[in-house]
Amino acid sequence: MPEKIVFLNGEYLPVEQATVSVLDRGFLFGDGIYEVIPVFGLKPLRVDEHLQRLQNSLSRISLDNPFDDESWKQIFDCLLEKNPGEDRAIYLQITRGAHPVRDLKIQAENRPTIFMMVLQVGVVDVTELEKGIKTVTIDDFRWHACDIKSISLVANVMLREQATQSGVVDAILVREGYVTEGTASNLFMVKNDVLITPPTSQHLLPGITRDLVLELAEENGIACEVRQIAEAELESADEIWLTSSTREIAPVVNLNGKDVADAKAGPMWKKMINIYQQYKQELRQA
Ligand code: PDD
Repeated sequence: MPEKIVFLNGEYLPVEQATVSVLDRGFLFGDGIYEVIPVFGLKPLRVDEHLQRLQNSLSRISLDNPFDDESWKQIFDCLLEKNPGEDRAIYLQITRGAHPVRDLKIQAENRPTIFMMVLQVGVVDVTELEKGIKTVTIDDFRWHACDIKSISLVANVMLREQATQSGVVDAILVREGYVTEGTASNLFMVKNDVLITPPTSQHLLPGITRDLVLELAEENGIACEVRQIAEAELESADEIWLTSSTREIAPVVNLNGKDVADAKAGPMWKKMINIYQQYKQELRQA
């Protein structure tokens, strides 16, 4: 196993040597932001969009962006070089750093903690993906700021655990009768050959994969609608998908113990996963 090199506050270190203060506000309060950027070959996917979302999240929590986009990209390149592999993902997080007194109040003087590592996620196996996942719907009790990619993920952990306890892979979250997203993914539904996904709002993360899927669908003549989806409507879906940087496009084959369509990945998914793999291949070769 090659040594894992991480980035911490300007230094590249073996993971065992990278340490953070116990007074770090990320540790004490979950006061920070993160991003997960997939990398194909040497190319980060939609890096400008990920950096824009990072900026949006940082602005929402009043934390300055420590680097400009060019500097971020240089660090990504350097970190990828130090952690060779095929398909990978860059994980980055910025917290408000350590302060001597435990106090919620944001201090004028803050030295953020900037941490980055490479996740060896491996090449997605489409045959494996095609088997699909089982899900249950669960009440979305998270806060009204789900558009922030916050490191405070305890609600998501609880919701995922509820799904695990129900014997399924993930939860589809429902707020006031309308579906929002998965615990770490966005949601799509196919009905009568139309691809439908809920609009961005404070109740879901604006997924980079979501936007890419919508864009590729439109380019390939697939009709798309961005609108609210009632929980009852989901039960009569022809297809349901969960999308994310690490999961790509996962077909949902069972919802609340009932098969979705005939419990197999549907024709629209097959079309879209091929388009998506093609897009990745072009990125690798670019
Ligand atoms: N999660 N919604 C939530 C709550 C998420 O945590 C994620 C991603 C998404 C999909 O966003 P994107 O397509 O940009 O990955 C939607 C990452 C992968 C994670 O927490 O590991």
